[in-house]
Amino acid sequence: MKSCGALMFFSAFLLSGFFLSSLRGQERNKATDKQNTKTESVYVEIGKAPEKARARRNPLEKDPEAVAAGRILFEQRCAECHGDNAEGGKKGPSLRAAEIQNAEPGAIFWILTNGAVRKGMPVWSKLPEPQRWQLVSYIKSLGIAAAKPERSTPATGEPTTVKDSSSPRR
Ligand code: HEC
Repeated sequence: MKSCGALMFFSAFLLSGFFLSSLRGQERNKATDKQNTKTESVYVEIGKAPEKARARRNPLEKDPEAVAAGRILFEQRCAECHGDNAEGGKKGPSLRAAEIQNAEPGAIFWILTNGAVRKGMPVWSKLPEPQRWQLVSYIKSLGIAAAKPERSTPATGEPTTVKDSSSPRR
């Protein structure tokens, strides 16, 4: 019986812990967040955008030229890391993942403004705000695309085998 009581207590403890941590802004959360950062996806940073930043509307939402302008900016500034079509590159993750495509425009704007410098994502606060919103418009226009299957080594068309050595050097 004693062990049964202990079990009850333990599961109650687990449950309450679960409830507590599912509440927002708990101190507990911060502690567990820290433990989890290693195993979480590359998209945790955008999840840190504060409520106020997320709530911002894209002022260029209805501007048909914003997407085209954003594309040019993207090619100039972002493609080297995120790939020509934002599908992910050597240095930066795909921006066509659901985590980004489903994010609020304000959250994308926030990450551009603040970067994730320690993780290799530069700060773009020097770009004027309208340009940052153009980038947001462009990214949002892409839609979700499955991640690249694998980082396969590009096929060069050249067989890697050594040339036929039927006539060895003397
Ligand atoms: C020097 C390489 C580099 C450049 C240039 C760069 N990024 Fe990134 N970006 C990264 C890396 C690395 C990450 C992943 C950071 C992380 O681990 O959270 C990232 C992440 C992001 C994210 C997702 C945020 C998240 O949660 O990680 C967005 C959105 C993004 N970049 C947009 C852009 C845009 C738009 C530009 C051009 C203005 C740009 N990036 C330029 C390297 C780069």
